[in-house]
Amino acid sequence: MKAVCPGSFDPVTTGHLDIFARTAAHFEEVVVLVTGNPAKRTGLFSIEERMDLIREVTADIPNLRVDNWAGLLVDYTSAHGINALVKGLRSSLDYEYELPMAQMNRRLTGVDTFFLLTDEKYGYVSSSLLKEVARYGGDVSGLLPEPVAKAVEVRFREEN
Ligand code: PNS
Repeated sequence: MKAVCPGSFDPVTTGHLDIFARTAAHFEEVVVLVTGNPAKRTGLFSIEERMDLIREVTADIPNLRVDNWAGLLVDYTSAHGINALVKGLRSSLDYEYELPMAQMNRRLTGVDTFFLLTDEKYGYVSSSLLKEVARYGGDVSGLLPEPVAKAVEVRFREEN
C-alpha cells in the first residue's frame, strides 16, 4: 500500500523526518508531497528548494520519493492510485485542525487519513516556530536536519 505525507514543509524539520521514516516502515511506498504552486513564491524557501532539502535528508529511505502538487490532495491521490494520507499529530490543536480535513478528504474520494503520534522529542517543533527562533539567532540544532539548518542560516544571512 502507498501513502502520501502532505505538507508545506517550509522547511522540513526533524519531526517531519521522523514521521516520514516511520511511514516508510509501514507502507510499501511513501510520497512526500510538497503542496503549493511553484510559480508563486510564498515562504522562506521556494517549492523546488523545499523538495531538494527533503530529497537530501531522506536519501537513506529507499521507498520514499518527493513530489509537488498545487491542487486538491484527493485529486493527487486518486490520480496515483493512493489510498492513504499520513500525518503527524503533536497535540489536540493538531487534531482540531486535521479532523475536518481528514473527514472532507474521505467524503470526497474515500481516502483514509492515518495519524502517527509525534515522538515526544518533537512535540513542540514546527517549521514556523523554528524559523522565528532561527531568524533571531536562537539555537535550533537537533530540531532541523543539519543541511536544513545550514540552508536556513544562509537564507537569513542573505536577508540581513
Ligand atoms: O503543512 P501544512 O501547511 O499544515 O499542510 C496543510 C495541507 C497541505 C495538508 C493542506 O493545506 C492541504 O491539504 N492542501 C491541499 C489542498 C486541499 O486538498 N485542501 C482541502 C483539504 S480538505
